[in-house]
Amino acid sequence: MVFDFDTPIERRGTDSMKWGRYGADVLPLWVADMDFAAPPPVIAALQRRLDHGVFGYGIETEALNAAVVNYVHRRYGWDIEAEWLVWLPGLVSALNVVCKAVEGGVFTATPVYPPFMSAPKNEKRALTTTALLDTEQGWRWDFEAADRALSVSASKLWLLCHPHNPVGRAWRDEELNEIARLAQKYDLIVCSDEIHCDLILDTRYRHKPFAMLGTDAAERSVTLMAPSKTYNIPGLGAAWAVIPNAALRSRFREAMAGIVPHLNVIGMAATIAALEDCDDWLAALLDYLRGNARLVEDAVAATSGLRMHPVEATYLAWIDAGELCRQRGFADPEAWCTASGVALSSGRDFSAACGDFVRLNFGCRRATLRKALASLLGSTS
Ligand SMILES: Cc1ncc(COP(=O)(O)O)c(C=O)c1O
Repeated sequence: MVFDFDTPIERRGTDSMKWGRYGADVLPLWVADMDFAAPPPVIAALQRRLDHGVFGYGIETEALNAAVVNYVHRRYGWDIEAEWLVWLPGLVSALNVVCKAVEGGVFTATPVYPPFMSAPKNEKRALTTTALLDTEQGWRWDFEAADRALSVSASKLWLLCHPHNPVGRAWRDEELNEIARLAQKYDLIVCSDEIHCDLILDTRYRHKPFAMLGTDAAERSVTLMAPSKTYNIPGLGAAWAVIPNAALRSRFREAMAGIVPHLNVIGMAATIAALEDCDDWLAALLDYLRGNARLVEDAVAATSGLRMHPVEATYLAWIDAGELCRQRGFADPEAWCTASGVALSSGRDFSAACGDFVRLNFGCRRATLRKALASLLGSTS
């Protein structure tokens, strides 16, 4: 089947956060949703669910849990039990819940998706960070710095972004093993946010859930997943945590009590269809995103003052625009974006030290991407 990611779908004037925040003359390539319609089987499942006409409180069904159990087995060879699953309407909630559930400080590496820093703050947890290293070979962990930071902090929870938003790395086994080793050394729970796990663009790599590293890693893990990024249904609010350790799972559930709402029935219907019937759509999407990634990487490589490392995973490009701004007389990347009429995410939101960076969401039509790149690369102050 041929899937169409090129025909325009008007999102201006709808309920879209991405398209509603800025004026009509701004191209929005910021918040992480894609401009594509959901896969046809998802839309058909939603239509069937709407036809039923009754939308009472939902409870997760056996079919829903089985869809996840089968999906993670099929995609990663990960064997999990249905009872390890905890359903939530979103993973930002889950990041906050895990910070509430695990007593003690929180450790993470920056730059990182902003809720990794706001969730510990919301729960009044001390946050310890180390910076990822921007090396010639790409973004790398600074494990020595992580070890030093963990040895002097009272961290009990490692928030891991795997694959990583915004730097686009698909972590290798060696890196995950080192994280597992440090987690064991300092007795940490590892909450591995794997929301982007099915968006591996570099075909040399396969996603491996952190919890698959071994029994010790599994016992100290909370794995967060959702169909929202991959199948472009973040507005439908369905996500899950996999928590093999029963004691940890009940602490997580207790932290949710009275705060996290029931799973919505529309999201449930969409999730089953996404996990069971959309492999060919996903393969086509990944091909399309690979083409978009190449377009961005080539444009950045051809532009004086811009720099990025290849995107291994996600539909997000993390671009250092500091030198371009200095060359062209922009005060900062925000001024460059404003002058270009393109909305990107500011690097500052991902780390105070990343004010020179922008995050560009290339989950859009290629024509939109070409237009945005032409505006960005052509603009002068
Ligand atoms: C790493 C990561 N976690 C969580 C989310 C959002 O999760 P949700 O929409 O389920 O709250 C995002 C969205 O971009 C993300 O990149």
